[in-house]
Amino acid sequence: MCGIVGYVGKSRAVPMLLQGLHKLEYRGYDSAGVALPEGGGIEVIKTSGRIDDLEKKVKHYGELSACCGIGHTRWATHGAPSDLNAHPHLSQGGKVAIVHNGIIENYMELREMLRGAGYRITTQTDTEVVAHLFEMNYHGDAVRAMVETVKYLRGSYALAVLSADEPGQIVCTRRDNPLIVGVGEGENMIASDIPAILAVTKNYIVIADGEVVRVDAGGVTVYNSLGETVEKEINTVTWDVSAAEKGGYEHFMIKEIMEQPKAVRDTVQPRIKDGMPALDDCGLSDALFENVRNIHITCCGSALHAGLVGKVVREKLARIPVIAQVASEFRYCDPIIGPDDLCIVISQSGTTADTLAALREAKARGARTVAVVNVVASDAAREADGVLYTWAGPEIAVATTKAYSAQLAAMYLIAVRAGLARGTLSEEAARRCCAEIAALPELIERTLACREDMQYLASLYSNRQSIFFLGRGIDYAAAQEASLKLKEISYIHSEAYAGGELKHGTISLIEDGTLVVALCCDPALLEKSVSNIKSVKARGAKVIMVTSVASFQPDPEICDHLIRIPACAAELSASLSNIPMQLFAYYVGVHRGCDVDKPRNLAKSVTVE
Ligand code: G6P
Repeated sequence: MCGIVGYVGKSRAVPMLLQGLHKLEYRGYDSAGVALPEGGGIEVIKTSGRIDDLEKKVKHYGELSACCGIGHTRWATHGAPSDLNAHPHLSQGGKVAIVHNGIIENYMELREMLRGAGYRITTQTDTEVVAHLFEMNYHGDAVRAMVETVKYLRGSYALAVLSADEPGQIVCTRRDNPLIVGVGEGENMIASDIPAILAVTKNYIVIADGEVVRVDAGGVTVYNSLGETVEKEINTVTWDVSAAEKGGYEHFMIKEIMEQPKAVRDTVQPRIKDGMPALDDCGLSDALFENVRNIHITCCGSALHAGLVGKVVREKLARIPVIAQVASEFRYCDPIIGPDDLCIVISQSGTTADTLAALREAKARGARTVAVVNVVASDAAREADGVLYTWAGPEIAVATTKAYSAQLAAMYLIAVRAGLARGTLSEEAARRCCAEIAALPELIERTLACREDMQYLASLYSNRQSIFFLGRGIDYAAAQEASLKLKEISYIHSEAYAGGELKHGTISLIEDGTLVVALCCDPALLEKSVSNIKSVKARGAKVIMVTSVASFQPDPEICDHLIRIPACAAELSASLSNIPMQLFAYYVGVHRGCDVDKPRNLAKSVTVE
């Protein structure tokens, strides 16, 4: 979703802004632009399309010497992705340029107010009003103007402003949208995410809601909403810059798929002490598990699918009722949650608007909250009572792979600790589970060897209109993620069904040549799944079967292609069956010529409701 970048320092701003915008491309966007103080005014260059298009446009402007500027990638919400609606937006007087991430909910009211004050609204965006409001409130001090401007705004925003009258500085603020400030030497940057600042520095400050920041070449000053200065902690990026580069791979997605053994190892290793899960410092104490009534898992997209696996495993190992629910529904369904309950939110980015809203709703109702998050110091990490970090490293491809795998590992650790605390798992059983979790990276490594097989199968089936995924129990949870991955990346319609549910309607969609992918990793449910597969095969389906059950010898008549993955405990099998499914989605996408790292209409960080 929209990306903000700003640079002020000793170098020319344009190349710094463009490199920063490239680093934010993964967030998803449909137009881009930059603004620079030039000749006493502000030069705005913007276009619909890609950053490459913006680069071409910038070249026509000749020498742009400003060492300060702001830039933006826009993911259209209000108004089409056009040159006009692209950010930055100029105020009517042309002295203020603004970039915005989020949604100004009361922009219609503000438009009317501004029209009454003589302003002409020229775009369809919700952002334009902020530029005019800022101009109205500007009396020589941009920090003051920002403090006054945000008083008018309802909704969510990260905002950065350039003022022609104070040309060597950027002023920014945020509410419910990510914003960091990179603190360099004689040069500083602002950005929506860390990769955009790495060309200048690894040191950064996380801006909190309501804070206003003045950034110039000499330093960074942070003010609270009353305009008083506040001290901020400086964080340092721990991962190497190369972690956010393709490193010889054709796409980030395949690189991130291949990085999964490390992502899971880095997540699990620090959390297993003396052979047992150690989660006390994450807010997940044994006392909490002993007394908890229900566990709610609420999140979005693939994170929810990790939660669905977590539900199956936790209910099985710890016998605690788990309600896994889409975050955007949770907040509006008057959830039955209170002080006796635990709410776990799962999020790669830690900034997903619906997930944050659900977290706040659970907290407001008195529940304990724990965030399973990949981005250090992100909103979810800071707001939850406890945080269990996944250590997948930066994930750039929009469709998550390695962060999802790390989330699964976190789910298992929580389930085992909960089972131990509740006495549903003996110490010996818990130790055995932990050893199996610790062995997952090596098993994932072995599973990745199916890469060529999946590439071949993708070449056979990439022309399908529709693909179905089947599974029972944990395989059903895994099938839902497999289906989402395929549709995100390849734009093929796909659906996941619980094996037993087929006969209640879906089977009418199966015809000669329809591809059905069946996940069969739970020995206890194998026979039932085979019956379901037989019924689709009898109606002409082509079947790819994925199994971790070494002894299973499927009838060649029902299975056109068999993918064997390493044997493992059924509870952990989603971590392995997931690998061929990600590879299948990736290669189908590549085969169809799709932009697999940046699928159409999708965003990595979804900061609007
Ligand atoms: C977007 C991404 C998905 C992701 C979901 C939740 O839709 O494209 O890959 O699963 O958001 O994101 P989060 O950062 O909260 O895990």
